[in-house]
Amino acid sequence: MTGYDKIIEKYILNGIEKVDLSYFEPSYIPERIIHRDEEIDVIMKNLALIFKKITPKNMFIFGKTGTGKTAVIKFLGRAMMNSKNEKINFVYMNCQINDNSYSLLYTLGRSAGAEIPVTGWSMDRLFNSVKDSVEKFSGYFIVVMDEIDRYIKKNGDDILYSILLMNSEMQNSRIILIGITNDVTIIDHLDPRVKSRLNEEKVVFPPYNQFEIYDILKDRIEMAKMAGYITDSAIRYISAIAAQENGDARKAIDLLKSTLQIGIDLKNVPVEEKHVNIAKSKIEYDAISETIRSLPLHSKIVLLSITLLKEYGNVNITTGEIYNAYRNLTNMINIPPLTSRRLTDILSDLDMLGIINAKVISMGRYGRSKIVDIMLSSSFIKSILMEEELLKSIKDSTRKQSQLKI
Ligand SMILES: Nc1ncnc2c1ncn2[C@@H]1O[C@H](COP(=O)(O)OP(=O)(O)OP(=O)(O)O)[C@@H](O)[C@H]1O
Ligand SMILES: [Mg+2]
Repeated sequence: MTGYDKIIEKYILNGIEKVDLSYFEPSYIPERIIHRDEEIDVIMKNLALIFKKITPKNMFIFGKTGTGKTAVIKFLGRAMMNSKNEKINFVYMNCQINDNSYSLLYTLGRSAGAEIPVTGWSMDRLFNSVKDSVEKFSGYFIVVMDEIDRYIKKNGDDILYSILLMNSEMQNSRIILIGITNDVTIIDHLDPRVKSRLNEEKVVFPPYNQFEIYDILKDRIEMAKMAGYITDSAIRYISAIAAQENGDARKAIDLLKSTLQIGIDLKNVPVEEKHVNIAKSKIEYDAISETIRSLPLHSKIVLLSITLLKEYGNVNITTGEIYNAYRNLTNMINIPPLTSRRLTDILSDLDMLGIINAKVISMGRYGRSKIVDIMLSSSFIKSILMEEELLKSIKDSTRKQSQLKI
C-alpha cells in the first residue's frame, strides 16, 4: 500500500464512513416500486393497448409531491422501452428544464432521430421536421411531460394542441402524451380542446400512509444493504413523521438519509429515534435558513428589527414598535423606508412562512393591533441576516441600544 493509499484509507475508507448513501439521493430511481399496484395497473392497461395495435389514450397524472408519480412513470417507461414486441420510444421531459416550446419539440424530434440544431429554427420548420421524423420512426412515442404545469404557465398550450393533433395527420406513428403535475388547477388553464384530449385518462396518486412509507423505506434500506445501520423503531418513527407531513415519500427518504448521515458522522450506529430527532431539527433549520436567506431586503430589515427588539427584552412586540425600529434601521443604512401599510404585509408574509408568530389583539378603544413573537434564536437569525452586505454595518452600531432608539 502506498503512502497515498494509506492516508485515504485512514480518513475515508475506515469502517462505517465508506457506506454508500447514494440510494437515498433524490436522483436514484428504484428498480422496484411498491404500493402503487392500482395506479400502475391503470397506466399499464392503457399503455399495453400498444401490443394490440390500438393507440392508448393520453393521460394526466395528478398527485401531491412525493407520491411516486415520477418514479412510477420512469419505471414503466423503462419497462415499455425494453419490450421487443413493438417499436416504442419513451421520451421523458421535466418541464422545469424543458420549459419552452423549442426545447419540447427539439427533445421529441431528437428522440426520433431528427437532425435539429439546439436553437435557431423557426417554429414552423422545427415542427414539420419533428413530425416527419416521428412519422418515419414508425412506432409509438410515449411522451411524458413531468411538472407540465410549469410548461403551460409559461407557454400556454398551442404547441401541445399541435402535438395532440399529429396523430390524425400521421399514418405510421402514434404519440401518447402523459402530463404529470401536483397542481390540480392547471387543467383549468387549458383550452377545452386540449383539455378533453389530454385528460382522456386521469390517474390520481394519493399520499402514502405510515405503513406504506415504512415499507418503502425498509425496501430502500435493503437495496442499499444497510439494514444493520438503523433500528426498526427508528424506521417506524420516520414513517410516522412523514405520514403526518402529507405522506411524502421524498421527505421520508430525505429524513432517513440525514439520520443515517448523523449516525455515520457520530460513528454511532445503528441509528435510533434520537438521531431521527436531531436530523429532523437539522432539516428544519436548513429549510428555515434558506427561507430567511431568500427574503427581500426590506423583509430582512423587518425581521432584524423584531429580533433586536426581542433581544433587548421586549415582549408582546407591537406593529408600532416594529415600525419605529425598522425606520431607524433603514435610516442607518441609508435606504428609504416602506410605508407602515407595507410593513403589515411583510409581517403577514413572515407569519405565513413560519418565521414569526403574529396574532391580532384588541386594544379596547384604540382598535386592534398585531402582536408579534419570534421563536427562533436571535443569534441564529442574525447569523443568516448578516450575510447580507448592507446589513453588516448595522451589526456594530446596534451594540449600542441607544442608537436604535427603541
Ligand atoms: N412506491 C414507491 N416505491 C419506491 N420508492 C418510491 C415510491 N414512491 C416514491 N418513491 C421514492 O420517493 C421519492 C419521491 O418520489 P417521486 O419523485 O416519484 O414523487 P413525485 O410524485 O414525482 O413528486 P413531485 O410532485 O414533487 O415531483 C423518490 O426518491 C422515489 O424514488
Ligand atoms: Mg415528480
